[in-house]
Amino acid sequence: MKALAWHGKADIRCETVPDPKIEHPRDAIIKVTSCAICGSDLHIYGGIIPQMKSGDVLGHENMGEVVEVGAENKKLKVDDRVVVPFTISCGECFFCKNGFFSGCERSNPDREKDSLLWGDSPAGLFGYSHLCGGYAGGQAEYLRVPFADVGPMKVPDHMSDEEVLFLSDIFPTGYMAAEFCNIKGGETIAIWGCGPVGQFAIRSAFLMGAERVIAIDTVPERLALARSAGAETVDFLEADVYDVIMDKTHGRGADACIDAVGTEAEPSASLDSRWDRIKTATFMGTDRPHVLRQAIHCCRNFGVVSTVGVYGGFLDKIPMGSAINRGLTFRMAQTPVQAYLPKLMSLIEEKKIDPSFVITHVAALDKGPDLYKTFRNKEDGCIKVVLKPGLTDTNQIVKKDVVHA
Ligand SMILES: NC(=O)c1ccc[n+]([C@@H]2O[C@H](COP(=O)([O-])OP(=O)(O)OC[C@H]3O[C@@H](n4cnc5c(N)ncnc54)[C@H](O)[C@@H]3O)[C@@H](O)[C@H]2O)c1
Ligand SMILES: [Zn+2]
Ligand SMILES: [Zn+2]
Repeated sequence: MKALAWHGKADIRCETVPDPKIEHPRDAIIKVTSCAICGSDLHIYGGIIPQMKSGDVLGHENMGEVVEVGAENKKLKVDDRVVVPFTISCGECFFCKNGFFSGCERSNPDREKDSLLWGDSPAGLFGYSHLCGGYAGGQAEYLRVPFADVGPMKVPDHMSDEEVLFLSDIFPTGYMAAEFCNIKGGETIAIWGCGPVGQFAIRSAFLMGAERVIAIDTVPERLALARSAGAETVDFLEADVYDVIMDKTHGRGADACIDAVGTEAEPSASLDSRWDRIKTATFMGTDRPHVLRQAIHCCRNFGVVSTVGVYGGFLDKIPMGSAINRGLTFRMAQTPVQAYLPKLMSLIEEKKIDPSFVITHVAALDKGPDLYKTFRNKEDGCIKVVLKPGLTDTNQIVKKDVVHA
C-alpha cells in the first residue's frame, strides 16, 4: 500500500510499504478514507521527537471503512465507517476504566523505556515514535487498529468525513483545553496559538459560556479565523502580549490561559524565546517553553493554566514562584479522546459546531510530503490539511477559503 513514511528531519516520503495485517484477535483493519496532518506531526517533521526510525509510517488523525475484523472483536463489522482516536487504549486497565484513556498502561510496549524519562508512560499512539509504541500511523491506504473494540467510533452515513474526522484528535483536544478552564459563564480566556487546536479551543470556550476570548498568534489568516469565531486577537510580534491582556482585563489577568502552542514556539517572539532556541540548538535544553511562561504571567490570581501544546522533556525557567504565590491551577494532558467522543459527536449532530471550518487543503496521499512543508511553513493560507488516499487525481490540491474576517 501507499503510505507517508518518515526518513529524517523534513524528509517524509510517499512510498510503498507492506499492507497491515490482523496481529491480535481484537484488531481491525480499516481502509483509510480521510486522514489529517497535525501540529504534533510537525514536531516529528522538525526532528525533535526522539526514537523515530527510518520508514516509520506517520498519521494519528484517521478515519475509514472497516475491511477486516479480528475474531474476538464483537464491536465492529466489515463496512462499518469509523473515526479512530489517536490514543490506543485497552479499555480494561485502571486508567481506561477511569476514563484516562491516554494513560492506558497496556497499550504502550515502550513503557519501560519511557519510565526512565518520564516516571511512567502514556498510552500507545498511532504514528508517534518508539516512545509511544512504534505503531504505524494512518497517513496510508490502510491502518491496523489495535484494541479496535474500544477506540473507534461508528459514524452515521449522513455525516461527511470532514464533519467527523477531527473527533480523532484536535476537536477533543481543543474542547478539553477549554474544559480545563472551569468555565461557568462570563470568563475571559486567553489562548496562545491559533493553529487547528487553538481554533477548536476558541470555539469550545465560547460554547461553554466564556464571555471573551483573547487569541494570540502572528499568522494573519489564523488570527482572522479566530476573529470570525468572536475572539479578540493579539499579534505577538506587534504587541506586548502581557500588556495587552492586562489592559483588556483591568490589570487583573485572564481567568484562564490555554497554551495551544507547545514546544516549538516562535523563537523571535521575545528574549526568552530566543534563549530557548539557543539552548535547544546547543543541546542545553529540551524544549522552548516561552508560551507556558507567558501564560503563567498573564493568568489572574487563582486562575487556571491549561496546557495542551506538547512538551517533551525538562522545561527551564518556569516561574513556579508566580504560580504558587498566586494560587494557579495547572491542568494538562494528552487527550483521552475516547472519553469525549459521545458528547462531541452530539455537538456536531446538533449543529452546535461544524469541525470542517478549519480545513484549508484537501489532496491525495501523494501530495502529503509537499503539504507537510506547506503546513509547517504556514504557506498558501494553510491551516489544516486533509489527505484522502482514495482520490484518483493525485496532483490536485483543493483549497478552501475558511476565513470570513
Ligand atoms: N495534548 C494533546 O493531546 C494534543 C493533541 C493535538 C495537538 N497537540 C499539540 O497542540 C499544539 C498545537 O497544535 P496545532 O495543530 O494547532 O499546531 P500548529 O503548529 O498549526 O499551530 C501552532 C500555532 O502556534 C503559533 N505560535 C507560535 N509561537 C507562538 C507564540 N509565541 N505565541 C502565540 N502563538 C504562537 C503558530 O504561529 C501556530 O499558528 C502542538 O504542540 C501539538 O503538538 C496536543
Ligand atoms: Zn495530533
Ligand atoms: Zn488501558
